[in-house]
Amino acid sequence: MPILILPELVVAQIAAGEVVERPASVVKELMENALDAGAQHIRIEITGGGRQRIRISDDGSGIVPEEVELAFQRHATSKLTTADDLAFIETLGFRGEALASIASVSQLTIITRHASSSSGILMQLAGSEIIRRQSVGAPVGTVITVENLFYNTPARLKFLKKENTEKRQIALYITRYAMAYPHVRFTLEQDGREVFRSNGSGQLADVIVAALGLDSFKNMVEVASRESDSAMRPEITVTGYSSVPSLHRADRNHITLFVNGRWIQDTRLSYAITQAYHTFLMTGRYPVAVILVKLPPAEVDVNVHPTKAEIRFRDPEGIFSAVQRAVRRAVVDLAQTPAMRGGRFGGISSNHDNLAEWENSPTGQRQLGMNLDLYSAGGYTRTPLAPQSDAPEAIPEGPGAPQKPRTLPILRVIGQIGATYIVAEGPSGLYLVDQHAAHERILYEQFMDEHARHEQVAQLSLEAQTLSLDSSEARLIEENLETLREVGFDLEPFGPNTFIIRSVPALLADQSPTEVLGGIIADLEAGTSPGQASIEDKIVTRVCKHGAIKAGQILSTDEMQSIIRQLERCRSPHTCPHGRPTMLHMTSEQLARKFGRLG
Ligand SMILES: Nc1ncnc2c1ncn2[C@@H]1O[C@H](COP(=O)(O)OP(=O)(O)OP(=O)(O)O)[C@@H](O)[C@H]1O
Ligand SMILES: [Mg+2]
Repeated sequence: MPILILPELVVAQIAAGEVVERPASVVKELMENALDAGAQHIRIEITGGGRQRIRISDDGSGIVPEEVELAFQRHATSKLTTADDLAFIETLGFRGEALASIASVSQLTIITRHASSSSGILMQLAGSEIIRRQSVGAPVGTVITVENLFYNTPARLKFLKKENTEKRQIALYITRYAMAYPHVRFTLEQDGREVFRSNGSGQLADVIVAALGLDSFKNMVEVASRESDSAMRPEITVTGYSSVPSLHRADRNHITLFVNGRWIQDTRLSYAITQAYHTFLMTGRYPVAVILVKLPPAEVDVNVHPTKAEIRFRDPEGIFSAVQRAVRRAVVDLAQTPAMRGGRFGGISSNHDNLAEWENSPTGQRQLGMNLDLYSAGGYTRTPLAPQSDAPEAIPEGPGAPQKPRTLPILRVIGQIGATYIVAEGPSGLYLVDQHAAHERILYEQFMDEHARHEQVAQLSLEAQTLSLDSSEARLIEENLETLREVGFDLEPFGPNTFIIRSVPALLADQSPTEVLGGIIADLEAGTSPGQASIEDKIVTRVCKHGAIKAGQILSTDEMQSIIRQLERCRSPHTCPHGRPTMLHMTSEQLARKFGRLG
């Protein structure tokens, strides 16, 4: 075949493939244009999952009559003039390609009026060709209607996803942008039915309620970076909402990220957020989060991909740790909030991050592992707050009571089941506590607290015991001798790949030191990456696992009482350091319902 220069329309259609993959990408581009035009109200109407018709109306700046044609030419943009501007992009668009691309693969009508004109312009295009242009009366703003998308590119039509998939994707884009622009009013109508609306109040909380539902929102805490978080990078701010540990999902898709108002996909940042839940969430579970990062435009390169969903950071580490710190702070603060404050959730935008509240909330209970058949019928209702006289504060605890704030109500031990679970009663029902997981949590917090106070870890001296390893294991131990020492292991190199174990943490009195060290080596081999648990944390978690009471161990009432008393004052009593639940809670109301005492 001879070499030919392709006709312009074909070039445009090939280029369109990059920007306009599917109906949802048309919606995204048009919505971004409306936001760039300063719209306060954006209305999106979709028919047939966007293939038949997409209409986006905005009350933004509009386009002056003499520039309407220009807007549909490739590389025509009002948002950028020189290559240097690319470093300071503050608008969502800048490539000057979206309208040209969309017009080349659809039948498009635009009605637009700029505030400086007395009338608007109506222009119709089919496959990039202008077929009609006239003045019309119109309010200030722009209405773009895209019909019969891909009508002239049958190959692309064949690869379109199902209508419902497209509908979902469109709704996802709209709700995401509504979260990033809470002061803009969005309305989404699919096939004549309104499916989403945000009120433009400027409150992110209001949009989250509209987008994710009140139940999810009630189980989220506010994230706000503080000055101390960003001491090194004061220009980075992190805000948003992230779920309490009881609300989690099986994948990362529920983590929504915005950088300077742009929705982005960034595996590392999603990872930073997930890592902020270390020891609060089980491996393989992910939080629900809406996180907005703001930083100077020069710090990001948005010109990485035609869809602009990927960006590059000049200082990825700095952003990573700023995000992780802010989210971690919110989650840890929540865990440290003294429980049973007795207040109810306030208004939508109020501070609702109370541990007892989430524990008592329907979702909290469901997520705490209560998918036992026992709980499946009858639905969930919010536990009524305990009567005042039952409130733990009202019970005198006597002199010498521990100073750590209480995070659980006072529980009365009733007995043990299967030598594995402690049954206890509290002011609001029944608690089933996993003795091993609970004890792991207790030991872990004790260890960490002592360490934070720089206290010497209690040690147990051993009669010379040796540890023989292969060479890579021996290197791992050598590299971490100092950290091991801080945790209570004194190991002394003794010939090639052999160590003498001089002492171990006292809480491993009944354990085989070589077995524990074997576990530590396996944990260290699994490696750490930035933001993951520190090496020390890994070692401590392993020590606590071995030191904790095991399942299958019969406990005396005193022993059970002791575990429960200590658990009541753990910062995170609901999960073990690996993130597994320590307890199941069944409220008095749920019990009554099960026995048919309540309707
Ligand atoms: N809804 C709108 N209101 C006002 N002006 C608009 C609107 N949509 C497009 N424009 C104008 O048309 C121009 C071209 O839009 P287009 O989306 O093709 O490119 P862009 O937004 O500049 O860059 P990108 O291709 O990255 O989206 C914009 O720069 C803007 O000036
Ligand atoms: Mg654009």
